Amino acid sequence: MIIGVDYYPEHWDKEMWITDAELMAKTGIKLVRLGEFAWCRLEPEDSRFDFGWLDEAIGIFSERGIDVVLGTPTNCPPRWLCEQHPSVVPTGRNGSPNPIGIRGHRCVNDPVFLGYAQRIVAEMAEHYKDNKSVVAWQIDNELEANFCFCPTCNEKHREWLKSKYGTLQALNKAYGNVVWSGEYSSWEQIDPPYGDYNHAWLNPAYMLDFNRRASEDTVRFCNMQAELIRKYIPHAKITTNTWFCENMTDFYKTFENLDFVSYDNYPTTDIPKDTENIYTHAVHLDLMRGIKRENFWIMEQLSGGMGCWSPMSKTPRPGMIKGYALQAFAHGADTVVHFRWRTAAIGAEMHWHGLIDHSNVPGRRFAEFAELCGEAEKLASLRGTRLRSDVAILYSSDNEYAFKIQPQTYGMYYMEQIKLLHYAFAGLGLNVDIVGQHEELSDYRIVCAPEMYVTDESVVRRLYDFAESGGTVILTNRSGVKDSSNNCIQAQLPTVYSKLTGCHAEEYDPIGGDSVRIKFGDGDTFTGKQWCDILNADTAEVLAVYDSNFYKGNAAVTVNRFGNGRAYYIGTVGEKALYRKIALKILKDSGIPFTDSLPDNVEMTTRVGDEISARFIFNNTDVSQEFTLDGRNITLKPFEMMIEEI
Ligand code: GLA
Ligand code: ZN
Repeated sequence: MIIGVDYYPEHWDKEMWITDAELMAKTGIKLVRLGEFAWCRLEPEDSRFDFGWLDEAIGIFSERGIDVVLGTPTNCPPRWLCEQHPSVVPTGRNGSPNPIGIRGHRCVNDPVFLGYAQRIVAEMAEHYKDNKSVVAWQIDNELEANFCFCPTCNEKHREWLKSKYGTLQALNKAYGNVVWSGEYSSWEQIDPPYGDYNHAWLNPAYMLDFNRRASEDTVRFCNMQAELIRKYIPHAKITTNTWFCENMTDFYKTFENLDFVSYDNYPTTDIPKDTENIYTHAVHLDLMRGIKRENFWIMEQLSGGMGCWSPMSKTPRPGMIKGYALQAFAHGADTVVHFRWRTAAIGAEMHWHGLIDHSNVPGRRFAEFAELCGEAEKLASLRGTRLRSDVAILYSSDNEYAFKIQPQTYGMYYMEQIKLLHYAFAGLGLNVDIVGQHEELSDYRIVCAPEMYVTDESVVRRLYDFAESGGTVILTNRSGVKDSSNNCIQAQLPTVYSKLTGCHAEEYDPIGGDSVRIKFGDGDTFTGKQWCDILNADTAEVLAVYDSNFYKGNAAVTVNRFGNGRAYYIGTVGEKALYRKIALKILKDSGIPFTDSLPDNVEMTTRVGDEISARFIFNNTDVSQEFTLDGRNITLKPFEMMIEEI
């Protein structure tokens, strides 16, 4: 396994480059990421390129056996470019240009910007094509869907709609524009969602398309760079460092034409009181692995307390630096690059801490990081081993967008049931894949399809086929609600899934912050929150009923035999234990082995290879955990990872 760091030679005096590289080599660092924001130093004036300093830095690292990931600097066009060609700067929702100097100040559709971006990327690729130390390329930085409101983007949007709908009549129909007299009578009337108000006031069909197009713009921009790099370096390994942000690109389309996934991983240093939340890290990692169903990299990994645009967070507790990097390995990362080597002393991010503090005296966090490097070295033989899963959870970018556009009820968010279902199976020691909704399902035995809100007919068909041929599906509330345009389907919920689930909702109750009791046939009771589908069984067996509210006695959880398989339906958002109960029943019914002795937030995954396989057991809590595993008594310190060959 490989450990790297993110490094900014342009931030430090040259004398430091050598001492830094020496300490890196001594510590066991094998990789640095360079260059992703350095356009103003790589092209200080229009057409004058200066790679000398970067060559020198790369040379210093490569002499010490440290490889390089090069970032293309297209996230930050230099000031001279913005000044000469103001059109490169994106326009915000208020119709004015975005500020320069924060970063991300470029419109990925602006033809002038694209010309300059292509040129700097081509220059870099040409210059470094024979440099053996450059082992991978990162395109831009933390790409987001293109929420630019400039005239070029507005025109692009109209073109996109023209090619999707053909005629204005078709578009008006698909959007239901008759509502509030919103029908377009010319394409020029179609504007982006200007204004700083709640997007929920806007037409949801129009908003979903806007998001889809904005994502496609960014993906096209990314692909353009990848193709260009490959023109010079046919076998280049290309990625982009993705993340979870407000306007995300579609993960699956983003990486379709890239070689591997990389992710920026900043687990919280402030342990949430609600332990459900700590689960997020594992879920995100499994989602990253699921994008290409391949091992991935962490391109930025927690190294110190975080802060700058928000007040500073707690410094990582002892064990976190090492534990969270090993956790990434446990979930399928083969390379973890820490952000960043040393805390910046200049610029807006001076409070986002690296491994070494401003003092430049390596301290507690660095010592732990050095231990991690040693451990990673020992794990070298596990590189390339894979996680195999019987359980998949489906994720959809359309759903992610659609829930953001229209919040359903107080407290409800898309990832929550994904996390709860993930926890249910992963807490029983199983590997869990989180995959795109269009993924082939035949490798799996259990597919969780939570909140399948925006309907894609091909996904519906695949879920029916999966159950028909013997698989187990878990569906939940807010499934089959919308058609592919984001309009409501006019049938009893879960509409297109009703035959599969063998139940229907006669009404629903968005209870928001209230709770509800639900009771299983065996007397077990659980709390539900946020939402209650008031269910009636058609062909399904009722597993649990509501035990409070006016729908006391109506079904809350059902299971239906379908073909050779089964479909569960969960009508509310339950507490963790509810999902565990269902997971246990399914695993027992299907004869899939599980481990039920793991305490809360002790995570277990398995990586399998031809030569070697290993089990990773991680205490993702800040207290010691004692438990038994295969008849052995095990104690894990806070954030300790135990790795054992199997
Ligand atoms: C992101 C960015 C980095 C840096 C870190 C920390 O992940 O990619 O450039 O800004 O956040 O703030
Ligand atoms: Zn634009």
